[in-house]
Amino acid sequence: MHQGLFITFEGPEGAGKSTQARRLYERLQAAGYPVILTREPGGTRIGELIRRILVDLRHTEMAPTTETLLFSAARAQLVSELIRPYLATGGIVICDRYADSTFAYQGYGLGRDLDELRAITAVATGGLKPDLTFYLRIDVEVGLQRKRAGRERPEANSGQPVEWNRLDARDLAYHQRVAQGFAELMAQEPERWYALDADQPLDVLAEQIWQAVTPRLARITPIAAQGSAD
Ligand SMILES: Nc1ncnc2c1ncn2[C@@H]1O[C@H](COP(=O)(O)OP(=O)(O)O)[C@@H](O)[C@H]1O
Ligand SMILES: [Mg+2]
Repeated sequence: MHQGLFITFEGPEGAGKSTQARRLYERLQAAGYPVILTREPGGTRIGELIRRILVDLRHTEMAPTTETLLFSAARAQLVSELIRPYLATGGIVICDRYADSTFAYQGYGLGRDLDELRAITAVATGGLKPDLTFYLRIDVEVGLQRKRAGRERPEANSGQPVEWNRLDARDLAYHQRVAQGFAELMAQEPERWYALDADQPLDVLAEQIWQAVTPRLARITPIAAQGSAD
């Protein structure tokens, strides 16, 4: 166990994970909590280099095992360099995707053996699991549509470019297997997951997420209060 709070966001492409992860990060920061926002794959110098290999549309020859191990390598670096040390200080870590995505995408999506993925993930994370995982539920086609629209019109997304990558470009049946995989993962560990209908306005979702997080903040010491109690 750690003293901090580890929150992850999962769900299909275009569900609004990155948008809501950032909203939550900003709100926690404004409320004076020690918090960092990171993402997978990436989040560290080494992890962002691995991300570039993973998302490159030219890398059509990548073997599923290579893909799985690269995601896991990026995750291992993120956990050891950033997530574990920050949780150990009692801080909040928000991660845009984490190990559940490996089970959904490489497991249910690509058909990799789930026990094998469990073993690889245990090595990569040292067994670190999120305290709370938000699942943004959306129709796969609506999500992909949102993502495409965001890519074509960055001005509609506060000027933030929306990425379209090698993994997004896979066929619809693949993305549907992924969504089904997420449903099975949630059924296996219902206490860790909090599912939301992502087909709601941004502000409504942000408020639902905030309401789910606030009861868990009791054990987090706000920055302003740190060191002042003696
Ligand atoms: N609740 C929402 N309603 C409508 N559009 C949304 C909503 N949340 C996000 N979007 C838009 O959908 C696109 C994808 O959002 P993003 O947060 O990047 O999704 P993800 O990280 O899950 O792929 C962006 O253009 C974003 O502005
Ligand atoms: Mg995103």
